[in-house]
Amino acid sequence: MKHLKFSLLAAMVWALPAMAADDFGNAENGAEIFDECSGCHELGQGAENGIGPHLNGIFGRKAAGIDGFTYSESLTRAGNDGLVWDLEKLGYYIENPQIFASGTRMSYDGLEDPQERADLLAFLRIYSDNPQNIPEAAPTAIAAALEVRLPPDILEIQGDSEYGEYLSSECLTCHRADGAAEGIPSITFWPEEDFVIAMHAYKRKLRPHPVMQMMAGRLNNEEIAALAAYFAELEE
Ligand code: HEC
Ligand code: HEC
Repeated sequence: MKHLKFSLLAAMVWALPAMAADDFGNAENGAEIFDECSGCHELGQGAENGIGPHLNGIFGRKAAGIDGFTYSESLTRAGNDGLVWDLEKLGYYIENPQIFASGTRMSYDGLEDPQERADLLAFLRIYSDNPQNIPEAAPTAIAAALEVRLPPDILEIQGDSEYGEYLSSECLTCHRADGAAEGIPSITFWPEEDFVIAMHAYKRKLRPHPVMQMMAGRLNNEEIAALAAYFAELEE
């Protein structure tokens, strides 16, 4: 697994000098893949908000940034914390919408195939005046946008909830054990996988909040799994 990723990265770095913007992905294929989105999102001249916000100018746009569209609380919070859509972040969001906004209202399972994501992003980019990050993006950002988000072995770790309880005291200085929100989001009642995904998104600085980035940055994979197991059990 590690091997595979490495050679993918190496191949991309090698290919980069020749990589023009349009080589990033095939926008024509992307237009077809956009069928998966077009039931909820409009794009192009005269695009309006529908079930989802219109996607014109999405590159460089602040998350939850369209006035007059009612976003979920969690995506709004991410936008207020400074989340701006670029190649890498769009790649992650489209692969798994929960990554930035656990409570996102976008009910879409995610696009797993890296090439399909690249094609779709190449297509969306056409409708941005500010197509930052392609092709100027660092090779790592391009690789990250194409790469699988969290290796399955991290998601499969069985958390030790007793250890999680021990670790949780620091968390509970801000997050309430009874799940009451009061400005700080509730972290109880969560499916363990969503919790793990959210914590790793802070750890990898994909989610913007500096305090949570620091908190998650100090935790290893086992500790995150333990906390996920503990907070999931608090449900009772
Ligand atoms: C079932 C409807 C639905 C589908 C299908 C869907 N979306 Fe969404 N999308 C939404 C909703 C609703 C939101 C607002 C989410 C929120 O507030 O948490 C959203 C938000 C977004 C955002 C963030 C916009 C912003 O202003 O911050 C992007 C980017 C996005 N969608 C892209 C896509 C792409 C690309 C696809 C297809 C692969 C897609 N969506 C499929 C409903 C959908
Ligand atoms: C100093 C206060 C503070 C501490 C301590 C803290 N958090 Fe947070 N946490 C926050 C705030 C504020 C947010 C909302 C951040 C944002 O907007 O992304 C948050 C967000 C989260 C989220 C995502 C919630 C969501 O709805 O998306 C999770 C999961 C989380 N924290 C887990 C933890 C865990 C586990 C710990 C202990 C290791 C911890 N937090 C410690 C303040 C704190």
